[in-house]
Amino acid sequence: MKDFYVTDAAQFENQVITSSFVVASKQAKPKKSGELYLALTLADRTGHLEAKMWDNVNEHIDCFERDDFVKVRGLLNKFNGRFQLTLHKLRCMEESEIEFGDYLPRTTKDIDVLWSSLAGFVESFRDPHLKALVHAFMADPQIERAYKCAPAAKSLHHAFIGGLLDHVVSLFQVCDLACRNYPEMIDRDLLLTGAFLHDIGKVHELSFTRSFTYTTRGQLLGHMIIELEMLHEKLAQVPGFPAEYKTLLEHLIISHHGKYEFGSPKLPMFPEALMLHYLDDLDSKMESMRAHFLREPDAEWTSYNASLERPLLNTVKFLEKLRTTGVVTASEE
Ligand SMILES: [Fe+2]
Ligand SMILES: [Fe+2]
Repeated sequence: MKDFYVTDAAQFENQVITSSFVVASKQAKPKKSGELYLALTLADRTGHLEAKMWDNVNEHIDCFERDDFVKVRGLLNKFNGRFQLTLHKLRCMEESEIEFGDYLPRTTKDIDVLWSSLAGFVESFRDPHLKALVHAFMADPQIERAYKCAPAAKSLHHAFIGGLLDHVVSLFQVCDLACRNYPEMIDRDLLLTGAFLHDIGKVHELSFTRSFTYTTRGQLLGHMIIELEMLHEKLAQVPGFPAEYKTLLEHLIISHHGKYEFGSPKLPMFPEALMLHYLDDLDSKMESMRAHFLREPDAEWTSYNASLERPLLNTVKFLEKLRTTGVVTASEE
């Protein structure tokens, strides 16, 4: 266990701290004098911290890279309202010193319970082909391991170990509720199969053994293309799978971002595809809000949320205050 986590920063303002982090980014930049300084983003499972090293840069510059684990000593203070660490010492850590769980954020839910809940939904499928396909994915030990670990995104939403699974289980629940409202239009098994597959390519798009970054394949192809390939590979193990189903699933995958500018080459053209797009978008945005409120537990109005491009009002806090103080302003009509 580390002694200092990024979330504890406020208690250590203006103090010298010693702690360990994973290097999320590393840049060497020139000072006014032309000499180099190091600008780093250090991370642990609770957050990110900017760090600068002004002196002895040449000694340190080649001894570590992004994704390495480092032990540092430095002064923690606030700069432009944000915590920053001025580094005095830095060294790379030995593999034996590293407890990986300290550095990568992880879902607070039980991953095996989430996996069983996914399996429970699949058990309820009536369509034998779709059931066999999702079974084939879930029975693949490599897929299982990766699906249980992958984040759902690099930083926008569910950016934690188990995030993909957490997101998909939540999406299954919302899809299950919403499809009941349109029984004559939505095929539940098709919708849920789309939900299972829609982000499965993230297991190859993102690297998540140290910090979360895009793999080269992920960067160049994106998860939707990777998913088509994964689907085709898996279909080879499911005999008698109807070709028309395959096309529907391919469309669910490639249209789920909903707009050309978000990387979908086709707009959702049937009810399940439209519903998958909107509910996926809803679930990711709700999670982005939840995580932001959690990061700023005391704020009624939060700071700017970069993924939603707006500050947020924490209505739980807002209404609670209203109800306890009893101060209610009459609306002007
Ligand atoms: Fe996606
Ligand atoms: Fe998604």
